[in-house]
Amino acid sequence: MEKKNIDWANLGFAYQKTDYRYVSNFRDGAWDEGGLITDDTITMSECACVLQYAQTVFEGLKAYTTEDGHIVTFRPDLNAQRLESSAKRLEIPVLPEGRFVEAVTETVRANAAYVPPYGSGATLYVRPFMFGSNAVIGVKPADEYQFRVFTTPVGPYFKGGVKPLTIRVSDFDRAAPHGTGDIKAGLNYAMSLHAIVDAHKQGYDENMYLDPGTRTKVEETGGANFLFVTRDNKVVTPKSGSILPSITRRSLIQVAQEYLGLEVEEREIYLDEVKDFAECGLCGTAAVISPVGKIVDHGTEICLPSGMAEMGPITKKLYDTLTGIQMGRLKAPEGWIHVIA
Ligand code: PLP
Ligand code: COI
Repeated sequence: MEKKNIDWANLGFAYQKTDYRYVSNFRDGAWDEGGLITDDTITMSECACVLQYAQTVFEGLKAYTTEDGHIVTFRPDLNAQRLESSAKRLEIPVLPEGRFVEAVTETVRANAAYVPPYGSGATLYVRPFMFGSNAVIGVKPADEYQFRVFTTPVGPYFKGGVKPLTIRVSDFDRAAPHGTGDIKAGLNYAMSLHAIVDAHKQGYDENMYLDPGTRTKVEETGGANFLFVTRDNKVVTPKSGSILPSITRRSLIQVAQEYLGLEVEEREIYLDEVKDFAECGLCGTAAVISPVGKIVDHGTEICLPSGMAEMGPITKKLYDTLTGIQMGRLKAPEGWIHVIA
């Protein structure tokens, strides 16, 4: 299969149309058989539930070319399970895990020409999503839904690749206590748009959101979970009911313990203690692990000892091990790598 003529090394995190997408529609109480199509547009009622009441949930995962030339994805079963919990929370009918994995597999395989080559630094981002598609004017769930998967080749999420980021403590919350912060729903990201535009205007790369209940604890950023390293090399990551359960974070916890022999603590982290950490990173599918060099809390700068020039040493080990597993350089734990081609 011939690859597309794309400047892989200089891709940013932007949408680029690829040839195929997978679509299945839910009507009369059941998902249809579904299949690949080429049309990248969607036509629906102006009153569709997704357009009026934001009834939509999504996922994000990546396809990689491994060192030995296979195309793989990383733990798609966990994306299927998270989409299921997101869907249930917004009264969207569940798509069975097997169908989700099959749809991702078919879409990636059909777009194999867009999967960046091994060593290019780019990956194929896969975006499965579902939304209420029929007209609804009273506040209630739709009766009809579409599940869709598209792909787009991407480079690093943050400009500058793995250069340490400067983030600020946000005055806005991204989630409510007992709200929807723990699911992957478009509405959480709509909430964050003003905060991210404002952060960029003020010269910051991202926002650190605090817990909406007390505003004393670290939650996450708009698109990634936090991971901290203590001065004695312990990995510490926030535990909260209002953050997204990141698949990257859950994987890194296992990598830290089993591959690197590090101690890991998942616990509440107070903003007050952040100044004592040695390293900080943002972890997620898009972010992979992006190092944070500086956190600004209303004029008070917290400068991580790892500095603004490069990733801290433990963050780097975690990064190298995780990407080594994803790219087939290191043996993966059972079930982590789903081979597509
Ligand atoms: N937190 C938020 C708000 C996200 O949007 C994402 C991205 O998916 C993550 C965390 C990281 O999750 P994952 O590692 O499953 O991609
Ligand atoms: C992902 O990492 O897959 C996400 O969905 C984050 C998003 C901000 C791009």
